[in-house]
Amino acid sequence: MTTPTPTPAAATTRAPATLRPYRRSDADDLYDVCVRTADAGGDARGQYASDRLVGDLFALPYATLEPDLAFVVDDGTRVVGYVVGTADTPRFVERYRDEWIPAIAGRYAPAPSELTDDATPDDVMHYLHEHPERLLVPEVAPYPAHLHIDLLPGFQGRGLGRRLLETFASAAADAGARAVHVGMVSANTGARPFYDALGFHVIDVPDAGPLTYLGRATRP
Ligand SMILES: CC(C)(COP(=O)(O)OP(=O)(O)OC[C@H]1O[C@@H](n2cnc3c(N)ncnc32)[C@H](O)[C@@H]1OP(=O)(O)O)[C@@H](O)C(=O)NCCC(=O)NCCS
Repeated sequence: MTTPTPTPAAATTRAPATLRPYRRSDADDLYDVCVRTADAGGDARGQYASDRLVGDLFALPYATLEPDLAFVVDDGTRVVGYVVGTADTPRFVERYRDEWIPAIAGRYAPAPSELTDDATPDDVMHYLHEHPERLLVPEVAPYPAHLHIDLLPGFQGRGLGRRLLETFASAAADAGARAVHVGMVSANTGARPFYDALGFHVIDVPDAGPLTYLGRATRP
């Protein structure tokens, strides 16, 4: 039984916001921010049988397995944004399979054995969850870190994404990663100018499906 996360109070563009390391008590807020930004940057609530499903793929495994690389924006009442990721994608994939899949076993229906045209949105997510090796893309291997970053709408466009991303990049560099990548849903036209402004370039990946891979050095 989880406590529903309250909708953030009128998040004006000047609401206070502090960057700090992730704490385990932030988990419910991470699930909430994740689903509210999971539809190519927009609200995905109601699109899956559980609103926590996307968080169980794209936020909580990172915050749980790699807490030293998880940072949040706190408005004084709750977490309103985060960056999570890993400095070592192959190692993360191993730990996702060996630790995260068992940790949440039974929470969701088993994935179909293959993805067919009639797969539901839940089927697709369950399949991605059971195939963490999808993250091992040869062309992005020179960019061993990767990340996920999301802010609630009222906290976007005021420099917090830049601060989160540079905080992550610096921590990933300290952990030994020289370069970082993101696998951005190509339909997320709002995020692409952000990554451009932060110095990311396109990594050419044939057959990248719905994703565009972007990369840059962890230090300027
Ligand atoms: C993408 C996201 C993390 C960016 O964070 P942000 O706080 O809004 O971005 P910032 O205010 O830090 O912007 C940093 C730079 O990017 C530029 N930028 C950001 N979004 C932009 C946009 N839509 N168009 C043009 N430039 C943009 C800013 O102008 C700024 O440039 P500057 O520092 O040179 O002035 C945030 O908007 C977000 O969470 N969006 C929804 C979820 C999402 O799409 N996540 C990414 C999934 S891959």
